[in-house]
Amino acid sequence: MTDANKARFNAEAAQWDSNPDIQQATRLAHKAYLSHLPSDPAILSTYDILDLGCGTGLLSLALAPSVRSVTAVDAAEGMIGALEAKLTAEDAAKNVLPICAMLEDPDDERIAVDPVTKEKVTGRRFDVVVSHLVLHHILDLRKLFATVFGCVKKGGKVMVTDFENFGPEARKFHPESKMDGVERHGILRDEIKTVLEEAGFVDVKIETAFELEKQVETEPGSGVMGPTMVFPFLICEGTKL
Ligand SMILES: C[S@@+](CC[C@H](N)C(=O)[O-])C[C@H]1O[C@@H](n2cnc3c(N)ncnc32)[C@H](O)[C@@H]1O
Repeated sequence: MTDANKARFNAEAAQWDSNPDIQQATRLAHKAYLSHLPSDPAILSTYDILDLGCGTGLLSLALAPSVRSVTAVDAAEGMIGALEAKLTAEDAAKNVLPICAMLEDPDDERIAVDPVTKEKVTGRRFDVVVSHLVLHHILDLRKLFATVFGCVKKGGKVMVTDFENFGPEARKFHPESKMDGVERHGILRDEIKTVLEEAGFVDVKIETAFELEKQVETEPGSGVMGPTMVFPFLICEGTKL
């Protein structure tokens, strides 16, 4: 992620949760993740999750009650600050650890801390790495998934969600004023499948997870939000043997 991108997310952090499209996308993504994770609570409650590009922690906090722990990583300190503020509430989740980091190394010591025991576990790995609405901001997907592959336990999984690049109309997902740091207009099914396989994941499946209806600009660059459009989201899954 570029510095410009980081600056953008720092600036947006305070308003992030007030965007109803983001809230709705998280609700739908959470449902999709739960339908792809083990349905047996006795199994799911043992899972350690890494949420890469967690933002203000909307998905991390939604998953937290179902799993053992969530390590919530984001490169933008504003996003992590917003998550830290939520975690100060008395009834907040106790198993979510926010980490401000641009994750590029599976052995990064910052993700080695167990959110539950607070102890550092050298070579700590995760049952599942999730990441929602992040891939369209990533220039080098191969590099990212090499890191993700390294973070997953043997037998563990990657599960990522983002909107699909279904053609030129996918560009309308963002208003023209918000194109800074958008590296692609959604993800391409074939491309992401190849990237996951090249990273080393097997049993790679790319499926439509849900559809998000959101307002788009009346004309590109008008700044006036008008008609709604439906954007398909993909869930991309792979296993590390
Ligand atoms: C569009 S936001 C999505 C945030 C959150 N997942 C959500 O859905 O609300 C993308 C986030 O990914 C973060 N990000 C992108 N690349 C990253 C990386 N390599 N390591 C950590 N965070 C990253 C950005 O800082 C930004 O907060």
